[in-house]
Amino acid sequence: MSVQQTPLFHAEKSVDSYEIPEFAEFAKPNAEVDADILELVNSMSLKEKIGQMSQIEVGQFLNQETGEFDEARTEYWIKEYAVGSILDAPNNHGGKYMCYPPRVFADFADAVQKVAVEKGSRKVPLIYGLDSLHGANYVNGSIIFPQPVATAATFDPKFAYDAGRVAAKDTRAAGCQWIFAPCMDLNTSKMFPRAYENFGEDPYLSATMSAASVNGLQGDYKNDRTRVAACMKHFIGYSHPQNGWDKGTCWIPDHHLLEYFVPPFQACVDAGCASAMESYNDINGEPVVTSEFYLKTVLRDIMGFKGVLLTDWAEIDHTIEFHHTSTDKLDATTQAMQNTSIDMSMIPIHGDFCDHVHELVVNGELPESRVTESAARILQLKKDLGLFEQPYVDRSLIETVGSKQDLELALNAIRESITLLKNSEGVLPLKADDRVLVAGPAGDSLGYLSGGWTLKWQGAHARDYLFNNEGNTIVEGLKQIHGDVKFIRGVDIEGSWDELAKEQITEEAQSVDKIIICLGEDSYAENLGNLTDLTLAKGQLELVHFIKQAAPNAKIILILVEGRSRLLEDVTEISDAVVDAYLPGPWGGVPIAEVLTGKVNPSGRLPFSYPKHHSDTFITYYQKNPQQEYEPLFPFGAGIGYSSIVYSDLTISESVLPLDTPVTITVKVKNTGNIDAKEVVFLYASPIVRPGLVPERNRLRSYKKVELKAGEETIVSFELSVKDLLYVGRNLKKTVPAGLTYKFLINANRPEALE
Ligand code: BGC
Repeated sequence: MSVQQTPLFHAEKSVDSYEIPEFAEFAKPNAEVDADILELVNSMSLKEKIGQMSQIEVGQFLNQETGEFDEARTEYWIKEYAVGSILDAPNNHGGKYMCYPPRVFADFADAVQKVAVEKGSRKVPLIYGLDSLHGANYVNGSIIFPQPVATAATFDPKFAYDAGRVAAKDTRAAGCQWIFAPCMDLNTSKMFPRAYENFGEDPYLSATMSAASVNGLQGDYKNDRTRVAACMKHFIGYSHPQNGWDKGTCWIPDHHLLEYFVPPFQACVDAGCASAMESYNDINGEPVVTSEFYLKTVLRDIMGFKGVLLTDWAEIDHTIEFHHTSTDKLDATTQAMQNTSIDMSMIPIHGDFCDHVHELVVNGELPESRVTESAARILQLKKDLGLFEQPYVDRSLIETVGSKQDLELALNAIRESITLLKNSEGVLPLKADDRVLVAGPAGDSLGYLSGGWTLKWQGAHARDYLFNNEGNTIVEGLKQIHGDVKFIRGVDIEGSWDELAKEQITEEAQSVDKIIICLGEDSYAENLGNLTDLTLAKGQLELVHFIKQAAPNAKIILILVEGRSRLLEDVTEISDAVVDAYLPGPWGGVPIAEVLTGKVNPSGRLPFSYPKHHSDTFITYYQKNPQQEYEPLFPFGAGIGYSSIVYSDLTISESVLPLDTPVTITVKVKNTGNIDAKEVVFLYASPIVRPGLVPERNRLRSYKKVELKAGEETIVSFELSVKDLLYVGRNLKKTVPAGLTYKFLINANRPEALE
């Protein structure tokens, strides 16, 4: 493809604030399709029904030379295959612009839609899916939210709701009604390049965040046209590859899968998630995409999922040359269609899937009812989203894209996500007269603050012009909030030294009190982020050592801007303070500076175990065997503020848990400092002895984030019932034998833990 993409920015003025409907009731997919949908699907030809099951990538609707909408190519797909769905942003597939502003995106989406509703044999509208993972990250001018891992660090699901709410509105403004999120893979493998797309390592945290995200994205999606259908992904076990690589093979015993990986998905099903995406991996040697066990028994029978099930990108075909479990495309399609309950194939660039499903039905190898059932589910979703009434974009949404109201939500999420991991001798917050030098490659980059799936699939990298001056780097944030600070990058993101940097740092370091070193990763998505070594670029670690030597009297503050927890050798030990900012997105600079200067009292907590050694690449706080040491660099739940919080008086209402009523657990929490604070209170419980199955060291059962004014004391209470303690036994059934003794802990892994 020879398209030279040009920048084009959101040129329209956004309103400062807007009102859109909020509903207390969240919609859910129905078990049965409506009578009119049944009538429609029963009147369709086999080819038309198969078309509904087919999703094509957006590049197929673009002129290959100019990158503009191509009516003839679109007609081909609509007429030849009656396709029902389209996906992705044009800029990822040779579109004319580097990232489409909402009106231009909407013009394109409407042009494709017009062909479907005017020239399609049934005039059925298309459903358009987009990866709006952290805000509408492919819609230029939309407020980009922190990546999900940072949202998880807030330990307040409200922020997952807000990000979903805004993503839904802005994605609909661009003409797409379906969002491929939330992503609830568990961060069990620290090498996995998609760690930042999910909500950390803990099943309960992930479940609460993912369900809130579904509510934000979908709301009452059957009535509210500012919402979308969510798509929970990636089902299932994807983030646990043996080698830490994207698409790597996973070994997960069935009872582990049900115990740890299923609960976040179950929470989304319970929240009414309208669709799901299966995953690229195999588990125990069985590709998920053709597995009856994962895609029927677990997803539909055990979990009760009623929504639309989509494959990941070309995944049916991947069984041929990637998984080597099918001989050719016909064989691949046969296995996927016969064994599973997949409703739609993300094909995405050829019509073979359509031809092969047709062939299978005509030859009697697949009952037509299998196709009818899937097509009906998809048509019902289109109806629920209002597409039959109004297939085109509601242009009134466009002026809300990028509003101050949305920005405030994103800033608040970032403020509450930033996690202070170490603060020796109160080096933070900065004092007003502290002379500050900033160094490190993540200090002056919006791209590195944002990571992959930001404007482009692979992220912006160092191309900050793509953000059109929207956002603030860390240096810019510090200039705004602290005052004049000097910046010397030192090394680039790969760790190569800038010429003259050593001299400049040595000179500058003599006259400053504190040096803030911003370490980070280049942007990546999926397999392009695979690593052979989890250690951060050596040159970046050297930078910290060099500065320590060059400025023995200055205090060193590390800021980690990372999509996954990279090994840091000894640099946290030689630093006075350590802050994890995760990937806060392009608006991260100001809130980071607010935390560093004490304008905001940090309240983020680590949503994963931060590994210390190479042997920690699969470390989780809930690892089996309480005898085994759990000594990460920073434990799950780590994070401090500038105030001191004291815990006391842990009580439990009953010492024997009754079958039908919950017990109440309370703890007193007091802010003994002189500034207001937000504090996360964690409740853990795990059996001391568990017959037949080694108990976990600990399991998070609940958490609450509370606000405490300076000097304020409160009682935080939790209710826990038997169902919260059920675990999956070897027979794959949930159980909790009578007579088990549990250990309850408040704030495990933290100095103030109470048992
Ligand atoms: C990713 C999915 C994504 C899809 C569509 C795939 O490669 O695994 O997460 O939703 O592409 O862009």
